[in-house]
Amino acid sequence: MQGLLERYTAGMASYVATAAEASLLDIEELGRSAITDDVSLDEIAGLHEGAALALSDRGVPINEPEVIRRMSACLSALMVSAAVAYRTKIDLLEQHRQQERDRTERDRQRLETLGQFVGSVAHELNNLLQPVRGMTEIMLADLPKKPPEQADLEVVEACAIQAVGVIQGILGYVRRETIAPQRLAFGTAVATACNFIRPMLREPFETVIRDRDTEVLALQGELTQIVLNLVQNAVQAGARQVRIEVDQIRGGEAGEARAGAGSRRWMRLRVIDDGHGMSAAVAARALDPYFTTKATGQGTGLGLAIVRSIVLGWSGKLRIRSKPGRGTIATLLLPVAAGWS
Ligand SMILES: Nc1ncnc2c1ncn2[C@@H]1O[C@H](COP(=O)(O)OP(=O)(O)OP(=O)(O)O)[C@@H](O)[C@H]1O
Ligand SMILES: [Mg+2]
Repeated sequence: MQGLLERYTAGMASYVATAAEASLLDIEELGRSAITDDVSLDEIAGLHEGAALALSDRGVPINEPEVIRRMSACLSALMVSAAVAYRTKIDLLEQHRQQERDRTERDRQRLETLGQFVGSVAHELNNLLQPVRGMTEIMLADLPKKPPEQADLEVVEACAIQAVGVIQGILGYVRRETIAPQRLAFGTAVATACNFIRPMLREPFETVIRDRDTEVLALQGELTQIVLNLVQNAVQAGARQVRIEVDQIRGGEAGEARAGAGSRRWMRLRVIDDGHGMSAAVAARALDPYFTTKATGQGTGLGLAIVRSIVLGWSGKLRIRSKPGRGTIATLLLPVAAGWS
């Protein structure tokens, strides 16, 4: 402010003494730059009084009509240039806000269209899978005792059943449906899911189930989908080692679950990988629907969003911890079912 006052006083002193147009131009420039520096219009107007006092102190006869006229010309140059600059700044700000609003609306519409598209694809696939599932079942029933094809057909049937489960999960997510969870021995259910997905993935993974029997409220089909999504993400992140761990922990309501802390009991599933990990920016958006870092056509970005939506539906929590180059830990916590001791 002091600098501004000195510059304005100098400009006004010069114009009062010489009536040179250049001094007014300096004052106009001063008004514009004050706005750029976020000085308020009130403060800018206040400069005039300070400058008039300074001139009076220097013995300039500020009551003479010609001096009054020249000082008024300075005030008007200052205020008009500041007001024009202020208006331009507001217009630019409004333009910027409008562009932001337009972009958000375009993103929203894009997501909505994508949601409808995913819904219709899932619906079509669901229809196509029904005969695969039904006819395999009939073929299995019609087979003579224990032929060599039986094991293969059973894999086809199991995959079709699982695929229907996955697709119904997507349909449920798109339509926001929920199916009531049931009591499941969590460790055993995770082991079943792992056995199921093992043949689908070429890469091996390790399982450490420390608690097989404690029950939670969940659904086997969706749990298998969760494990598959998390392990697939790990494999796609170039992990050489993937470990699935299940244990029981105690933790506070806030979910700061640490082994041995608090009273609430949780079953914890962790999928630990040594893949390329995520930057903080990717980790912050990883759970957002349609967020993917994969090439177009290679990932829907729905994997983790679906996992989170299922887990929240079971009153659980999902956390992802990751460091670039250090791997990722996806942690799922489900409350131990009431009445389980
Ligand atoms: N274990 C992981 N390691 C490194 N990055 C991960 C991991 N899991 C998820 N990500 C990052 O989060 C993004 C979102 O994951 P998400 O599973 O939701 O979608 P996607 O894997 O890209 O697509 P889709 O699941 O349909 O194949 C991924 O594109 C990836 O960048
Ligand atoms: Mg994924």
